[in-house]
Amino acid sequence: MSETLERWGSRRAFILAVTGAAVGLGNIWRFPYMTGENGGAAFLLLYVAFVMVLGLPIMMAEILVGRAGRRGPMQSLAHLARHAGVSPHWRWLGLFGAITVFFILSFYSVVSGWSIEYLIESVNGNFSGRTPAEIGASFEAFLADPLRMTFNHTLFMLLTMSVVAAGISGGLERLNNLLMPLLYILLVVLAGYAVTTDGFGTAMTWLFAPDLDAITLSVVLNAMGHAFFTLAVGACALMAYGAYMPDHQSLPRAVMAVAVLDITVALLAGIAIFSVVFSQGMDPGEGPGLMFVTLPIAFSDLPGGSLWLGVFFLLLLLATWTSSINLAEPMVAIFTDAGLKRGKATALIGTLVWMVGLLSVFSFSTLSEVTWVAGMNFFELVTTVPPEIFLPIGGLLIAIFAAWVMPASEAMRALDAGPGGFRLWRGVVRYVSIPLLVIVLLSALW
Ligand code: PHE
Ligand code: NA
Repeated sequence: MSETLERWGSRRAFILAVTGAAVGLGNIWRFPYMTGENGGAAFLLLYVAFVMVLGLPIMMAEILVGRAGRRGPMQSLAHLARHAGVSPHWRWLGLFGAITVFFILSFYSVVSGWSIEYLIESVNGNFSGRTPAEIGASFEAFLADPLRMTFNHTLFMLLTMSVVAAGISGGLERLNNLLMPLLYILLVVLAGYAVTTDGFGTAMTWLFAPDLDAITLSVVLNAMGHAFFTLAVGACALMAYGAYMPDHQSLPRAVMAVAVLDITVALLAGIAIFSVVFSQGMDPGEGPGLMFVTLPIAFSDLPGGSLWLGVFFLLLLLATWTSSINLAEPMVAIFTDAGLKRGKATALIGTLVWMVGLLSVFSFSTLSEVTWVAGMNFFELVTTVPPEIFLPIGGLLIAIFAAWVMPASEAMRALDAGPGGFRLWRGVVRYVSIPLLVIVLLSALW
């Protein structure tokens, strides 16, 4: 494969595509429930720290590789490795990334399906006038109904794969760009509402006053994995986007903007959700259902609540849609690069992901007690290991490749931040990010 000449039309277009990949379930669904399960502020503090010292520098590394290679991830890695005089086997890192996103997409689609269900329910007014207890019970009932969940999961996979097959993700990103500010406004409104609730003070303490004794190795590992997951780093998915990055755009500046937005969205969702948790005397460690129980309660207190709840889930769906496209694209690219037609490759990947997703669907009913490793059922396994182990390992290898293997001149050009910026970035990656990642991963695997 030779170098692509295609570029995004503007610097903004690149930032929009990366934002589309980054902002999604990670911010609004996963961040609150992980924070709830991992002791609150201590987790938040670690997660922000990991975004700074690992997420951001490695995000730059990942996009830089794609930008320098100007090909799909596997070809870029092989091509740049040859340039550097090392083995083209580095290309298998691209395959490892594809395997990672395969498993992530399989549960991402199932949970996005929950948003479809909630969109329909709120449009039908099924949440209005319900007590918090009833709202909680209806979520439980939904999880116990694999048929409804399969329907929504199927619908979401079809939505994702049709955009991927048609190659029109650019159009979706523009729509996303147009509508995302409304999602942010809704989150600000929700956070404003949270201020008026009894639970607000407790929520703020819970989120922002860290109890350092609560930091255990598993909290550290969870926070690190979440930093990678929420920024979409470590699976070579952003590497694929880097190939189309325009010339003359500072990479650090672009990704910094994305990270700030990504953290802000998570914080707003966290404030809204934990205020409800503490107002209602709920358990912050409630798990993956946290957002689906708290947000309908919050909206039901607001004027026109049902309508806005519907709008919220519609926007969330749009946000997860652009992320799922980013998850699917690198897998499809591997097959099309191998000569398969785009439509066929998409259908093949889509079907496989859909099937594996069914294991997550049934993890809430028939398969809930079937454990795979360490007492985890399939959903627990697939929401834990790929984000918390695979993404960091992928990120580590990407970092080593960009900061140690690639010739400095090539990496410097792709970073586009001047010699000083380049030295700073490479110093951080070489002597902070890589050692830290190795230490955390090794102690976790111990
Ligand atoms: N960053 C996305 C989110 O927060 C998830 C994702 C992970 C997307 C990895 C692409 C690659 O929802
Ligand atoms: Na995110």
